[in-house]
Amino acid sequence: MTATRRIELTVNGRAHAADVAVHHTLLEVLRADLGLTGTKECCLVGECGACTVLIDEVSVDSCLVLAVEADGSRVTTVEGLATDGRLDPLQEAFLETGAAQCGFCIPGQLVAARALLAAIPQPTRADVEDGLAGNLCRCAGYEQIIEAVLLAASAEARAAGTRGAGALAAGALAAGGLEPVP
Ligand code: FES
Ligand code: FES
Repeated sequence: MTATRRIELTVNGRAHAADVAVHHTLLEVLRADLGLTGTKECCLVGECGACTVLIDEVSVDSCLVLAVEADGSRVTTVEGLATDGRLDPLQEAFLETGAAQCGFCIPGQLVAARALLAAIPQPTRADVEDGLAGNLCRCAGYEQIIEAVLLAASAEARAAGTRGAGALAAGALAAGGLEPVP
């Protein structure tokens, strides 16, 4: 008889409880139990990065993590990158540079890149190469992938600058007793 254990996960902001076989990996549970097949299954030995997800914001190979080890954690998969129907800036940039060729490695690349930009919002090319070193692309689309991550970093810096300028302007208006023009 297969031993099972009840675990609780918050995946892409949604709470899940599942009875999982104790020997099943997080990758198996995400794909088979939760139907989140964006996370890809490939080498299963931690070499290709196709199965990359975030656990509590840390990038991991989900084929190397038992589901029971992830009990109680927050997991982000590629399906969780878009918000309110809008693609993540990284997804936009991957489209813009044509980084997705066959597309198989792209979910893992995107999730790893999201962790990279959280740690280093303005990475150098060397930072991107290091940050994505564990994610292989059999189509060898590395140039476009690196270009996309740098493009997304610039777009996010511009957006943050605009938000910062907007907040400063609103603060200045409020200090003067004025309302911003709608
Ligand atoms: S499938 Fe997990 S690293 Fe390759
Ligand atoms: S786009 Fe085909 S493996 Fe990377």
